[in-house]
Amino acid sequence: MKGKTVLITGASSGFGAAMARTFAREGARLVLAARRKEKLKELAKELKTEVLSITLDVCDRAAVERELHSLPHPVDVLINNAGLSRSMDMVWDTSPEDCDLMIDTNVKGLLNVSRQIIPKMLKAGSGHIINVGSISSHDTYPGGGVYCATKFAVKAITDTLRKELVATPLRVSLISPGMAKTEFSDVRFKGDKARSDSVYENIEALSAEDVAEATLFIASRPAHVNVADLVLFPTNQASVSLLHRN
Ligand SMILES: NC(=O)c1ccc[n+]([C@@H]2O[C@H](COP(=O)([O-])OP(=O)(O)OC[C@H]3O[C@@H](n4cnc5c(N)ncnc54)[C@H](OP(=O)(O)O)[C@@H]3O)[C@@H](O)[C@H]2O)c1
Repeated sequence: MKGKTVLITGASSGFGAAMARTFAREGARLVLAARRKEKLKELAKELKTEVLSITLDVCDRAAVERELHSLPHPVDVLINNAGLSRSMDMVWDTSPEDCDLMIDTNVKGLLNVSRQIIPKMLKAGSGHIINVGSISSHDTYPGGGVYCATKFAVKAITDTLRKELVATPLRVSLISPGMAKTEFSDVRFKGDKARSDSVYENIEALSAEDVAEATLFIASRPAHVNVADLVLFPTNQASVSLLHRN
């Protein structure tokens, strides 16, 4: 990844922060985006590579256009990672605010960023778009209706882009992780620590580093190899809802 510029959204925690560390280790130049400025600042301090940190809400289309319009280096790898779940409520009980936030972040946010970067990749004649889907891009579970809908949308957008770009050198990949221990459940359960801790009880979930290493694998294949969808489970998970707890 030496000399390549990698743009990671949602880089302030979890998968995004681990990807920043992993790609920095491999010599990539980084553009890191998220809303929490302090977290990005702390992360940038520890990375031994060139880092541009951008405080950015991917839902804010005007801000995305402004901030990503003219970056100092062309983006070689775009990792659309920013995302969240805000509920485990049944579809009919999910509040309009939670619906909006999940759809705005996971779907419209990904589109806002992609709209800025893909035309530049096309002009440059190279680039790799890696979208962070989920096992929830493939299957659903009670309480996950809206989140799964957004992740199915991420898969639909990714599959469509791969078809639209088939005649170009651009690559389009999806990574679909199963259960991983990050801030994800804290955000989903709105700070209810007992509830978020219980998600990871008696099972060894994936770590953010596991997902980052898999993402590096996708990004570091030879130019003629495109990983279409990499599904990554913890060993004791076999589907979105089949988990074995010790
Ligand atoms: N953990 C899992 O089990 C799991 C499994 C499969 C897929 N995923 C997906 O993996 C991705 C990363 O999640 P994670 O597990 O690493 O959770 P996380 O630790 O909560 O990280 C989420 C990241 O997204 C950023 N983000 C959220 N809303 C944003 C916005 N509007 N604009 C910019 N950045 C935003 C957050 O940064 P700020 O708060 O600073 O903005 C944070 O850096 C998400 O797309 C998630 O859906 C997670």
